Amino acid sequence: MMSAPSIVILTGAGISAESGLGTFRDEGGLWAQHRIEDVATPEGFARNPQRVVDFYNARRAQAAEASPNAAHAALARLQAEHLGDVTLVTQNVDDLHEKGGSGDVIHMHGALASALCAACEHRWPARLEMSVGEECPACAAPTIRPDIVWFGEIPYHMERIERALANADIFAAIGTSGNVYPAAGFVQMARHVGAETVEMNLEPGENVGLFDDIRESKASETVPNWVAEVLAG
Ligand code: APR
Repeated sequence: MMSAPSIVILTGAGISAESGLGTFRDEGGLWAQHRIEDVATPEGFARNPQRVVDFYNARRAQAAEASPNAAHAALARLQAEHLGDVTLVTQNVDDLHEKGGSGDVIHMHGALASALCAACEHRWPARLEMSVGEECPACAAPTIRPDIVWFGEIPYHMERIERALANADIFAAIGTSGNVYPAAGFVQMARHVGAETVEMNLEPGENVGLFDDIRESKASETVPNWVAEVLAG
């Protein structure tokens, strides 16, 4: 009897779009409203920490009001019912996967719900409204920052992600434009070990040519259908 396939899933901002959270590169997206170098780089934070903290406070408040959609719920169902390994990696910093019932979500770009001490790297639950200069509960330095991986910084949990990709039978990318590495390179790593690759996106991503199966529609439609297929074996 074939053992159940190991599945690695990568999600991006598109999975949260129908929950009302903005994507980055769509028409009018976050990177059309803000300059990346001002709000998503260590240099931007050093230059004007208040502007950066305000940017993430606004996104944290929006995420707090947002509800998971059918795509988040479908992935939680897959994690609960699939007999093989399911590794859920997200580039998103919202907590809609957790609100949708997913446990063990790998936030490779950090999380709005977490605060980080720039001095001692202690992490603790972020307040809805973070303030510049808040003291670290561990070392008391006034060096709080959003626990977000900015451009130029190293994504989190890469060893665990690469181990999962090395054993993947199926790799699915959902709601990501395939613009940002290393996430955009995961499909290549999955193909290298012979995994079946599927992209579920509203429009083709930059690396669409690397996917065996492309499902172009809203995640709230494509993801539940795909999960039902996988569970039906
Ligand atoms: N259903 C499915 N896909 C959607 C939907 C939807 N309802 N709405 C938008 N999309 C797709 C878009 O077609 C696009 O391909 O989601 C993708 C969003 O792409 P981006 O805005 O680039 O977001 P993402 O790929 O997650 O960005 C990756 O870039 O700025 C950094 O750290 C940030 O984690 C982010 C990373």
